[in-house]
Amino acid sequence: MREVSPWLGWVDTLTGLEAKTRRTFEALDGLLERVIADHRRRRRPGPGGDGRPDVDGAGADDDHRDFVDVLLDVNEMDNDAGLRLGTDSIKAIIMDVFAAGTDTSSTVLGWAMAELMNHPDEMRRLQAEVRGAIAGKDADRRDVTEEHLDRMPYLKAVISETMRLHAPAPLLIPRETTEDTELLGHSVPARTRVDFRSVPFGAGRRGCPGAGFAAPTVELALANLLYHFDWPAPTAHGGGVGTPPVDLSEVYGLSVRLKTPLILVAKPWLG
Ligand code: HEM
Repeated sequence: MREVSPWLGWVDTLTGLEAKTRRTFEALDGLLERVIADHRRRRRPGPGGDGRPDVDGAGADDDHRDFVDVLLDVNEMDNDAGLRLGTDSIKAIIMDVFAAGTDTSSTVLGWAMAELMNHPDEMRRLQAEVRGAIAGKDADRRDVTEEHLDRMPYLKAVISETMRLHAPAPLLIPRETTEDTELLGHSVPARTRVDFRSVPFGAGRRGCPGAGFAAPTVELALANLLYHFDWPAPTAHGGGVGTPPVDLSEVYGLSVRLKTPLILVAKPWLG
């Protein structure tokens, strides 16, 4: 309420929303403080004496460095760009990426599974592709890894179609022209809302910076689910003959998710 009509801010105090917001903030802030403090404790000067932080004593280019270490590097090291991030900025970036990256990816996975349950032929075709791509010597490893994904064009098509049908953030963050402009001979007035068709990751300067990371994440998760398990169709949701087994009604939140939780039985596939 405070954001929409500041003079009605007292309503938020009365309903307890303000106190709840503060408690949530303190819990999240405390968690981020602990994560950063934990990373700082594990870092110590590298053996080369170059001042580059070393993690777990395993050397400066240790694989175990994570996103928080990279942010702390920017904070702690001399860098040519003269960029230095304070602890508050580091916390804000972690929250931004965490919030933007988790709900969206798991939502796409949920929609893909729901659509596949309602399209058994496509499910069979995709499962055959996934299992075929890691047949032979790779089958011993019993896991789909990033190297296999190039052999799965249908998997990418399924995920792309899932995001076209159920873009997790369909309204994006609104864009409008800032001034009157001319485009290909057409005049576009200031404040015109710009509309695209299928842009699940948004577009332009504020487009999703995690798109390149999200694609293999969702592909790997879906491919592994389909490789290791068979998925018997659930009983139709009360709509009678011809009703698809999974109800695809949507509910809005930070991302658009399935209204009814997707509960499936996973039957392990032993090859
Ligand atoms: C399938 C998964 C994902 C989808 C569908 C998705 C979609 C989007 C969309 C639509 C936006 C708004 C873009 C705009 O307004 O034009 C966005 C923003 C953003 N995404 Fe993603 N995203 C996904 C995964 C990720 C991942 C894995 C990360 C990070 C690891 C991430 C980080 C971000 C960040 C930081 C922003 C805010 C960019 C800004 O400052 O405006 N996203 N994402």
